[in-house]
Amino acid sequence: MKEVVVSGIRSTGNLHLGNYYGALSKFVKMQEDYDCLFFIADLHALTTHPDPKLLHSNVKDILAEYLASGIDPEKATIFVQSDVPEIPELYLLLNMHVGIGELMRTASFKDKARKQLGIKTDATKDDDDIERQIIGTDSNKRVNAGLLTYPTLMAVDILIQKANKVPVGKDQEQHLELTRRFARRFNSFYGVDLFPEPTNFNFGDHAVKVPGLDGSGKMGKSEGNCIYLVDDEKTLRKKVMRAVTDQGPAEPNQPISQPVQNLLTLMELTSAPEVVEHYRNAYADCSIRYGDMKKQLAEDILKVTTPIRERYLDIRNDDAFISRVVKAGAEKARERAAKTLAEVRQIMGITKFY
Ligand code: ADP
Ligand code: TRP
Repeated sequence: MKEVVVSGIRSTGNLHLGNYYGALSKFVKMQEDYDCLFFIADLHALTTHPDPKLLHSNVKDILAEYLASGIDPEKATIFVQSDVPEIPELYLLLNMHVGIGELMRTASFKDKARKQLGIKTDATKDDDDIERQIIGTDSNKRVNAGLLTYPTLMAVDILIQKANKVPVGKDQEQHLELTRRFARRFNSFYGVDLFPEPTNFNFGDHAVKVPGLDGSGKMGKSEGNCIYLVDDEKTLRKKVMRAVTDQGPAEPNQPISQPVQNLLTLMELTSAPEVVEHYRNAYADCSIRYGDMKKQLAEDILKVTTPIRERYLDIRNDDAFISRVVKAGAEKARERAAKTLAEVRQIMGITKFY
């Protein structure tokens, strides 16, 4: 039997190159060899993006982007999280075995709670401050409970399908660790062997981190430093040409600065190896011209994104196709989820009297 793979992306806006190399491109490869379920995490999106109109169109955008990037509904199950009501039910049940302390210590919770409370992210002494503010009484400033229990919901997405492999970026490792812990805890509390302990999956030996164009950390929706898969040619070129670099190397063989290394990392993902080599050497011998390098990079990124964008524009307008895909996907995902939920109810002693 093939191993089961589950992964999802929150519907919080269009997908960017970070999502593509960190998640989507792995999905496309994995569908060939595994029993794959890929979904849109719209319930998770509600923890930070509650606008109903936006949520609906974001779900459709990501569905179209999944399909345009090559996820094939004949090979993988594609569905929307909220189409599977067994997920919120298991989420309630599993929460009975999850500690609020372990949820509050999760890095992504602290990060997002800080944002919701309007606390700046730099100071380390903030941890106490967050806790005080969370249980404080100022009702204008609250951290929603959905954000706290985000890891339970994610664990349920994975465990309800009894997944073995979960392809996600490095930033999701801690959530996966919690998922394994919850699975172990459930199995041992009830003396059963119900949930497998899932692991991350990468082709090669480490998770990729796609950098942004602003010279600093990773490409991310909230960072405002993204190249979107559906950016048109003009927009994309403009973004790349404006990417942060440095003053140019002052002497031969000096270490490569972070902003330039970021561009090289993007090149490693999209350009031919000899192109990357050429610009590395040009940096080393001080002959590098950033204008040329960026033009080349924009060209190579466009080679990846243009076919995706063209397919996306077609699919986004094909309501009948999108509906067909998610309806069939929901049926398959529900059938499996219902089986696991029935087992859990039985194990926990929730059985009917009639
Ligand atoms: P964002 O950080 O833009 O909000 P998400 O958190 O929705 O993106 O991430 C969806 C998936 O894409 C996750 O598996 C995440 O690890 C991956 N991902 C997001 N940004 C990057 C990046 N810059 N590099 C590698 N993977 C990424
Ligand atoms: N938390 C993930 C993210 O922000 C999205 C997600 C929700 C997910 N449920 C999942 C990823 C289950 C993998 C498996 O990217």
